[in-house]
Order: sequence, then C-alpha cells, then structure tokens
Amino acid sequence: MADTPATTPNAKFKPRIFSGIQPSGGLTLGNYLGALKRFVEKQDEGIETIYCLVDLHAITVWQDPDALRRQTREAAAGFIAAGSTRKRSILFNQSQVSAHAELGWVFNCVARMGWMNRMTQWKDKTAGKDAEKASLGLFAYPSLMAADILLYHATHVPVGEDQRQHLELTRDIATKFNHDYGVDFFPITEPVIEGAATRVMSLRDGTRKMSKSDPSDASRINLTDDADTIAKKIRKAKTDAEPLPETMDGLADRPEAKNLVNIYAALAGMTQAEVLGDYAGQGFGVFKPRLADLAVEKLSPITTRMQDLMQDPAEIDRILGAGADRADAIAQPILKRTLEIAGMIRSR
Ligand code: TYM
Repeated sequence: MADTPATTPNAKFKPRIFSGIQPSGGLTLGNYLGALKRFVEKQDEGIETIYCLVDLHAITVWQDPDALRRQTREAAAGFIAAGSTRKRSILFNQSQVSAHAELGWVFNCVARMGWMNRMTQWKDKTAGKDAEKASLGLFAYPSLMAADILLYHATHVPVGEDQRQHLELTRDIATKFNHDYGVDFFPITEPVIEGAATRVMSLRDGTRKMSKSDPSDASRINLTDDADTIAKKIRKAKTDAEPLPETMDGLADRPEAKNLVNIYAALAGMTQAEVLGDYAGQGFGVFKPRLADLAVEKLSPITTRMQDLMQDPAEIDRILGAGADRADAIAQPILKRTLEIAGMIRSR
C-alpha cells in the first residue's frame, strides 16, 4: 500500500462498516432502532461489517465485573437475536483484540486536550459533578473510539445522532495523523446517521434521549422487557391531548408525540409522513394501542430469542472468540504499519 496522499479521499479504501455498543447496561429500544436494526440491514447490503461490544469503553465508569460479563453476553445475544450472523458480520468484544488499546494510545498522542475538552458527552457526563474525580479513561474515551474505527480502516460508521461529534473527532484524528506523518494511511470515515430513529427519546420526557442509564425504567423499553411490560410502558408514555397532525411540521413543539411517531415509523419501516397519512386526526387513544401492538409484534421475537441464547453462555463466548480472531487478523497489519509509520522499530 503506497502511503502517498490520494486526490480522492477514501478512494483507495475498500468499503467497510464498523460500529460499537457499550455493554454498560441492558439494550434499549433506542439501541435497537438507532443501531442494531440498522447494523443488520447493513450486513445484508453485502458490505463487510464489523461490530464490537466495547467493554474497554464501558469501564471508563465503574462496572461491577459480574454485571459487565452478563451485559456483554446479553448485548451479543441482542445482536444475534436481531439478525446478525457469523457469515455476514464479525462480532466480538473489544478487550479481546489488544490492538484497540495500542492504537488508542497512539491516538492519545495525536488528539489535542482542547479537542477532548470540547466533547459534549464528556461535558454532560461531568456536569454538576467533580470532573477531578472522573477517570482519565472517560476523558480519553473518544480517542479510543477513533482507534476502534480506524484500526479496521472502516469507511462508514452507522450510529445514532448522539455519536456525531465523536465521529467528527475520528476524522480530525485521521487527518492529523496523515498530515503529521505525511501519509494517506487512515481513511476519513463517513458517519451514517439516517432513518426515523437516529434519536429515540425518553417515554417520560420527549426532550431527553432514551438511555440505559436513566434512573426511571418507565422512560425506556428494554430489549429484555416482556410483551405486557412493553405494551404497558407505551400506554403510559407521556403525550398530549391533541390529535395527530397531517404533517411533521405540526409536531415541531410536541416532542413526546413526535417521538412516538418516529418510533412507529422506524418499527414499521415507514416514513413519518406515511405514518401521519394513516393517523392524522386521530388521538393517542387510538394511536398508542396500535403502536403497542406493533412494538410487541416486532420486539417479542427478539426478546424470546435473546432469552434462549442466554441459556448457553458458553456458545456466546465461542461466537465472540471466533469473531475476535477474525477481527485481530484485520487489525494486526494495520496496527503494525501505524507503529512503523510513527517510527517504532519492528524487529520481529
Ligand atoms: P452506546 O453504547 O451509547 O450506543 C450504541 C449505539 O446506539 C445508539 N443509540 C441511540 N440511537 C437512537 N436513539 C437513542 N436513544 C440511542 N441511544 C443509543 C448510539 O448512537 C450508538 O450508535 N461511543 C459509543 C460506542 C462506540 C462506538 C465505537 C460506536 C465505541 N466505539 C466505534 C461506533 C464506532 C456509545 O457509547 O454507544
């Protein structure tokens, strides 16, 4: 591979998709619609896909070791239950491929303190708390994320809206590395943020993201919830007394209503306009039961399959181990070349 600057960015890189999920809690409907469902669609488009359970990122905040093991297996089960297959994608947990941590260190030396200080997730996670007590790993988190992606020369990264800034930083790190060393070694990765569910909001507050770390369980649908719980949470979701409008403009100041329309659209594989075409003029007394039925219809088979898979943790570990071997085979030559470019002696 010639490391001379190319005129068309990424033209010399084979299309490859990489994305990751933190196993720091149970998976939510936000993770499913914003990530898992789209990951499986990508794998089925015939592009090489690599998906990673980022356990090294998870420990940037305290994780109970037993809980982390269980959540990592559960997230793997979530991927498989959502349709990820060994034939079409590589699935593994980050800590098993040591090159992530090694390239992460190199990128810690490329990224600037000022860049990290501007990360909104760092600011949000330390807001109102003593930032002095946050781990150094939490501060460096986005640099390890850049390493996850660039270790595979990934060209496209499907994520939810909340990861946009981290992906911009990944591009900045690739650009600075290429510039500083006078090479064209890392691709300038494209974020893929598309569809009706790039930002699924809390069921209790339409201005906050649905999150596994929200203290209120009623704010989210967990991929481990049974059918009754899913239906109950949707029936109880916060809404307003107005009927649904004819266009999305009519939802501009109605965050809770907009969120439920987005969720419906993403689950049904429709556009928001199509959903409003079917429900304009109807109130939530009609819309919520339909949404509850749709959510149960789409999510229950996944929940059931996840539970079945969780009965055999050894099989999940085997799948992750085999995935790690395949990931490592792609990562090692890229890490070695990076170290050579940076001037490290390679004597074996
Ligand atoms: P994480 O674990 O918070 O979320 C995993 C994926 O789910 C998406 N997501 C959502 N999408 C829509 N609505 C929501 N409410 C919602 N909540 C979460 C996220 O956008 C993400 O795509 N930093 C990443 C993990 C990571 C990563 C990477 C991602 C580490 N290395 C490399 C891509 C590439 C994170 O914390 O995701």
